[in-house]
Amino acid sequence: MTDEPVHVIRKLEQALRDDDFAWSLMLVGEDQTDKLATLTGDLRGPHSETGDGKQITSGFSYWGIGPTIAWANATNDPFYLVMKAGAESFLRHWRKVRPHTDKTGFHFVSLGVGTGVKDRTILADMYRKNRDMFYIPVDMSSEMLRMGTLEPVRGLGFPMSQVLPVQLDFSIADNMGELGQMLARLVGDEPILFTLTGNTLANFESDLELLGTITRVLRPQDRLLLEVASTSSLDQTAADAAADEYQQTRAFAEFVTSALRYNTDLRIEDGLIDYRGEVETNDALLVKIVWQNNTSESMTMGLPDHTEVTLKPNDTILLYTTRKFSTERLKKLTAECGLTAIEHAHSGFRYTRRPSPFGLDLLLLAPEGAEVPNLLAEDIWSQ
Ligand SMILES: C[S@@+](CC[C@H](N)C(=O)[O-])C[C@H]1O[C@@H](n2cnc3c(N)ncnc32)[C@H](O)[C@@H]1O
Repeated sequence: MTDEPVHVIRKLEQALRDDDFAWSLMLVGEDQTDKLATLTGDLRGPHSETGDGKQITSGFSYWGIGPTIAWANATNDPFYLVMKAGAESFLRHWRKVRPHTDKTGFHFVSLGVGTGVKDRTILADMYRKNRDMFYIPVDMSSEMLRMGTLEPVRGLGFPMSQVLPVQLDFSIADNMGELGQMLARLVGDEPILFTLTGNTLANFESDLELLGTITRVLRPQDRLLLEVASTSSLDQTAADAAADEYQQTRAFAEFVTSALRYNTDLRIEDGLIDYRGEVETNDALLVKIVWQNNTSESMTMGLPDHTEVTLKPNDTILLYTTRKFSTERLKKLTAECGLTAIEHAHSGFRYTRRPSPFGLDLLLLAPEGAEVPNLLAEDIWSQ
């Protein structure tokens, strides 16, 4: 016996090391009953025919085991062409961006892991440069965290003692503030690469607010890797095509309705899901996916707290929001948050017979106060 306290984490690490059972450690940042109360409250919103009343906001569409499985199925659906194109372009884009993260050993904080496929690529490269790095995936869904981190960690033999999954809603400013403080205590002044990939920024009602919330946590030595869907066209035809893209796969429809299926007793029928595309403030395409009662009868929906809500004819529930950003919108967003683009990679979609205005962009961003190489801003954005 020594007088040195043996920390529970160190003891746990030893206890779990030789066990074949698939344990995973996780830091839970929020009371999950509060989350359920928030979701229930959001589903009790006022009558609206435009998706502006009852809603399922960002992280809730992925929250829980049902939506997690549905998301994994959607990303693997061979008919979800955009997802496939995205996986391919990510590899190319990351190779272009990677040299800017090579010189310094970064820690890696992944905001929204999903299936973990992209994290695996990033982690493999970063681990080669910095054997002492921490990998900190952050997600609102504990099931997504468990599924999404097994892929990058197991496959690479990355030490479990350097993985710290965090269950947290990162759209809440206080949560991000607490996360930032905890990270600073964990890694000191060492730099962190934060990632927000898979067009996750587009799922939030206010993309500016989310980007601002994340940016406030970045220290000058940190970087943010941002992946977004983009468009070079901003008319109603393009908005309709953007909505169409999501309508084409059965697996995506299963995913987008799964939060409703698992948290309410509403019977979901295909005809009641509407994919609506519009041009937003003349610099982005906005797609709202809504459930709508387009029958002539009122319906009732049972909520998790055993109350019921009446859905009158034409009432809607907003299930999912997504966007395609123009370069102008991206410039405006990053400028308002004080972010500088260090590298930018862009690919257009080529799987359609006719030329498509849609593509994917990967941006490596530095916060205010960062020492960045002399960059010609317009050159970066024109790539
Ligand atoms: C569109 S997926 C992207 C997954 C992955 N990064 C990729 O590039 O494929 C969004 C991910 O972010 C998580 N997420 C969405 N909103 C969130 C929130 N407010 N807080 C925490 N996680 C959230 C979801 O659970 C999901 O894992």
